Amino acid sequence: MSDEKQPDEVIRREVKTFVLRAGRMTDSQRTSYENLKNRWCIPFENKPLNFTEIFGNLNPVVVEIGFGMGAATSIIAQQNPDINYLGIEVHTPGVGKLLSEIELHNLQNMYIVEHDAMEVLSKMIPDSSVSGFHVFFPDPWPKKKHHKRRLMQRPRTNLLAQKLMEGGYVYMATDWEPYGEFALEELGLTQGLKNKYEGFAPHQEWRPETKFERKGLNAQRKICELFFVKEK
Ligand SMILES: C[S@@+](CC[C@H](N)C(=O)[O-])C[C@H]1O[C@@H](n2cnc3c(N)ncnc32)[C@H](O)[C@@H]1O
Repeated sequence: MSDEKQPDEVIRREVKTFVLRAGRMTDSQRTSYENLKNRWCIPFENKPLNFTEIFGNLNPVVVEIGFGMGAATSIIAQQNPDINYLGIEVHTPGVGKLLSEIELHNLQNMYIVEHDAMEVLSKMIPDSSVSGFHVFFPDPWPKKKHHKRRLMQRPRTNLLAQKLMEGGYVYMATDWEPYGEFALEELGLTQGLKNKYEGFAPHQEWRPETKFERKGLNAQRKICELFFVKEK
């Protein structure tokens, strides 16, 4: 047998992009989680998803990685009923919160997978099936020894490119400028992706503010946005 590792395996064996926070769930998050997860959470499985069956239509699918408490996610899904959204998050209180939003707004275009996004992409998302990736304020891992945990770098970005359909996009925002610069370079070196702009993207007005963005703004940090497109 060959010693060469498959790309999937490389990602699986790599360090994780997150450390599970101990954050306690509020009673309402717990109630939403217990009552709604079977309806709107798709369990992690080593089997590709069929988006048409899940959403019941052929609309484009946008995947959000690390939606946190999901406030921006819910607003975007409400404003775009003709786009399907799949939110991926490992933080259970955030999953509970987004589940309560799905019910409150009767969202028909949103599902959640509570699992490591890198594994979800490699095992559950068919190649060339995703119209866009939203990655808002990913953990910046500022210490050099932790840079390997950053999500927006190869080979992780190769996997994003592989899952995008032609013309699909990766849209990232960060309040940590050194991570913005780092991601700009990594995405620029990712085969199949092309920067839509020169350098950072202009602010995309349609994106609602997120919780972590507010923290960055309160600390007077600049917001960097990146927008790359899958080439034909
Ligand atoms: C700094 S928070 C930002 C949350 C939200 N997007 C916002 O802007 O408020 C980053 C989130 O990404 C999640 N995350 C990081 N790596 C992940 C992965 N591989 N799979 C799923 N979620 C991940 C973390 O659990 C965390 O909730």
